[in-house]
Amino acid sequence: MTQRQAPEDIPKLREVFEPYFRIGAAVNPSTLSTQRELLARHFNSVTAENEMKFASLHPEEGRYAFEEADRIVDFAAAHGMAVRGHTLVWHNQTPPWVFQNPTGGAANRETLLARMKSHIETVVSRYKGLIYAWDVVNEAVSDDGGELLRPSKWLDIAGEDFIAKAFEYAHATDPQALLFYNDYNESVPEKREKICELVRSLKEREVPIHGVGLQAHWNLVHPSLDDIRQAIERYASLGVKLHITELDVSVFLHEDRRTDQKEPEAGMLERQAERYGQIFRLFKEYGEHIESVTFWGAADDYTWLDNFPVRGRKNWPFLFDAGHRPKPSFHEVVEAARS
Ligand code: GLA
Repeated sequence: MTQRQAPEDIPKLREVFEPYFRIGAAVNPSTLSTQRELLARHFNSVTAENEMKFASLHPEEGRYAFEEADRIVDFAAAHGMAVRGHTLVWHNQTPPWVFQNPTGGAANRETLLARMKSHIETVVSRYKGLIYAWDVVNEAVSDDGGELLRPSKWLDIAGEDFIAKAFEYAHATDPQALLFYNDYNESVPEKREKICELVRSLKEREVPIHGVGLQAHWNLVHPSLDDIRQAIERYASLGVKLHITELDVSVFLHEDRRTDQKEPEAGMLERQAERYGQIFRLFKEYGEHIESVTFWGAADDYTWLDNFPVRGRKNWPFLFDAGHRPKPSFHEVVEAARS
């Protein structure tokens, strides 16, 4: 029945969730055209999947490449959508020159921080008034027990206050922008507590941080609903806003390495629908703290989870199928909003 429903009869996600939070999608130059209608109809926020990362915007010292990022911002403006900026400082997708001196050795702390400052000033000021929220620092907290921060060149060279500096530079450039710390495994209790410790210490030092981004790369089972609830409560207790920044629900468990499914197997999409329903009921319950929910894509024709972490395997993590038709998950999510 859902297959035959005309697109104009299907409720718009952005309208269904209007009373609670924005509904976003990560986009790239290709999906901006292949998913244009779906994006325009259902979403009121976009994030650049890669086009605003350091390596994309600033491949060489003194050379910026804004074309693709500008297209995304223009697309959003043309459709009345908000834009979340992603991401200013990260250990990945940052070109080697940032950390090097002219002879190829490591840059010193002053040079690295000066480069960070000029990058942040250039990028944030270009999109001032257009990007309302930035993921300022991405994934700085360690997954391993013991250490708080993940080893990285930022940490090695600049020391742990590289995080505070990034927020300060961004805030000085655009005092209106909401500034986020963003991470994955955010609902795993041990890492959750480390993220809380980091955010608490930034707030104590009056670093301008306004929110925590929960990436939410989840699957049919993990993290448990209870762990998600506790994570939301713990982050909210810090007095910051919450954004769900990169939501997808993989149909495969982490240990599942099979590559033989060409289509979702029996029951998979029903289990995913049930899971999405539970997740969105929870988001709605915490709507006072959560102001944006962004999927890391829009429909199953394109997801970073195809071939990752298992090569040659397709995944179906979203609410819309590869033909942009609503899946059982879509209907459960709409039901969750209305219940
Ligand atoms: C992390 C990053 C995203 C993206 C995903 C994988 O979650 O924050 O920008 O690179 O990994 O697609």
